[in-house]
Amino acid sequence: MNLIIFGPPGAGKGTQSSFLVNDLKMFQLSTGDLLRAELKSGSDLSKQLKEIMDSGKLVSDDIINALIEKKISDPSVKNNIIFDGFPRNLEQAKSLDKMLEKYEQKISCIINLKVDYSILVKRISGRVSCSICKKPFNEFFDPPVDPSKCSNSSCGNRELIKRSDDNETTVSNRLKTYDEQTLPILDYYSSKGIVKDIDAMKEISEVTAQIKGVINDL
Ligand code: AP5
Repeated sequence: MNLIIFGPPGAGKGTQSSFLVNDLKMFQLSTGDLLRAELKSGSDLSKQLKEIMDSGKLVSDDIINALIEKKISDPSVKNNIIFDGFPRNLEQAKSLDKMLEKYEQKISCIINLKVDYSILVKRISGRVSCSICKKPFNEFFDPPVDPSKCSNSSCGNRELIKRSDDNETTVSNRLKTYDEQTLPILDYYSSKGIVKDIDAMKEISEVTAQIKGVINDL
C-alpha cells in the first residue's frame, strides 16, 4: 500500500506520518526533509534551494522528480511508502503516476488533512522539531517534556530546532503557493475516487484514530 498524506503547511502531515512509520512500519518519503538534508551539505545547489524554500515557492519539478525516483525504484520500500509533501502540483502528480507504473506500483489512498487556515500560523510558529529524528513538537499544542530536548529517547534526546521558513511572511507565501498549485491536485485524485477527508482540526490522537479507520477500510 502506498499513501499520499496531503494538506496545507502545518496541517500535520509530518506528525501523522510518524505513527504510520512507527506502527505500520511504512517508509516516509518527505520531499521537505530530503531538501533540508541537501541544504545542510553547503553545495551550490543548497544555496539555490534555500532561497526558493525561504520564499515559500516550489523547488523545480526536475530536482524533485529525481529525488522521488531514487526512492520509488528501491525494492526494499516497494508498495510501502507514505508520500509527505509530494506531489505538489499537477505535473508532479502525473510524473508520480508514470514512475509508479514503471515500478509496478500505485497509490491506494490520499489522506486529505482538512484544517482551517486560521490555525496554521499558530501551529507553524509554535513548531520545533528534533534535529535528529525530525519528530515535530509544538510549543502551544504538543510541548516536549523538556523544552530544549526531543522527548524521544531512542534518538538520544537531541536538541530541538526551528525551521528558517517557519516565519509569518514565508508561511503566507507557502499558503498562497498551496492554494494556487497544490490544492487543484485534489480534483485529479478525486476523479480516481481515492481521496479520504480527515478532520485535522481535532487533537493529534483523534486525527490518528481517523486515519487508522481509513486504512483499516482499504
Ligand atoms: P515541507 O517541509 O513539505 O513543508 P509543508 O508542506 O509546508 O508542511 P509542513 O512541514 O510545514 O507541515 P506539516 O503538515 O508536515 O505539519 P507538522 O506535522 O509539522 O516543504 C517545505 C518547502 O520545501 C516548501 O515550501 C517548498 O519550497 C519545498 N518543497 C517540499 N516539497 C516540495 C515538492 N514536492 N515540490 C517542490 N518544492 C517542495 O505540524 C505542524 C505543527 O503543528 C507541529 O508543531 C505539530 O506538533 C502541530 N500539530 C500537528 N497536528 C496537530 C493537531 N492536530 N493539533 C494541534 N497541533 C498539531
